Amino acid sequence: MSLRLGDVAPDFDANTTQGTIRFHEWLGNSWGMLFSHPADFTPVCTTELGKTALLQGEFEKRNVKVIAVSVDDLESHNRWIPDINEVTGSDVNFPIIADEGRKVAQLYDMIHPNASEKATVRSVFIIGPDKKIKLTLTYPASTGRNFNELLRVVDSLQLTATHSVATPADWKDGEDVIVVPAVSTEDAEKKFTKGLRIVKPYLRYTPQPNK
Ligand code: BEZ
Repeated sequence: MSLRLGDVAPDFDANTTQGTIRFHEWLGNSWGMLFSHPADFTPVCTTELGKTALLQGEFEKRNVKVIAVSVDDLESHNRWIPDINEVTGSDVNFPIIADEGRKVAQLYDMIHPNASEKATVRSVFIIGPDKKIKLTLTYPASTGRNFNELLRVVDSLQLTATHSVATPADWKDGEDVIVVPAVSTEDAEKKFTKGLRIVKPYLRYTPQPNK
């Protein structure tokens, strides 16, 4: 069965380009982003892993550990990394899981046989420090993901995990947020001391509380 939001992210042992890991132990108290790519030495995947490497500092600032996976083996990953670095001007410094036995791919339902019998689709799982799945995303092989969007989502997930707010369409860190419906306007007026802008009784904005 596929994994759903709120489920515990399955734990596993894996060989990676940075040694053997036990996933939950490797995550520690951090957030995590596990993302799959269909195959090594393919063009879109090369750009995606390079982009992730270029943004690794941004993920680290947010306490997010990133880890990639495909069903290729360690030798293939290690031969591919210099190409990624060369082509994208990056320095891939996060682990890539060698999942030639498809253990991780199956645990996380990353092979969609009607798309491809063999390769993983482009899945993303963002996992909280409680090891629960906070976001899933699935793209086809032909469409590279937007890793700045994933950073934006992490900003929203981390903010909304600790404040009674939600983030509107296209929200970016620093912009006004929405008071969740569970908080009455009377309580919101006391709680959100930076102010309340009431557009509709159910649509109430407040400045981002953690800024
Ligand atoms: C790619 O990464 O470029 C790719 C992989 C599989 C199918 C199509 C594109």
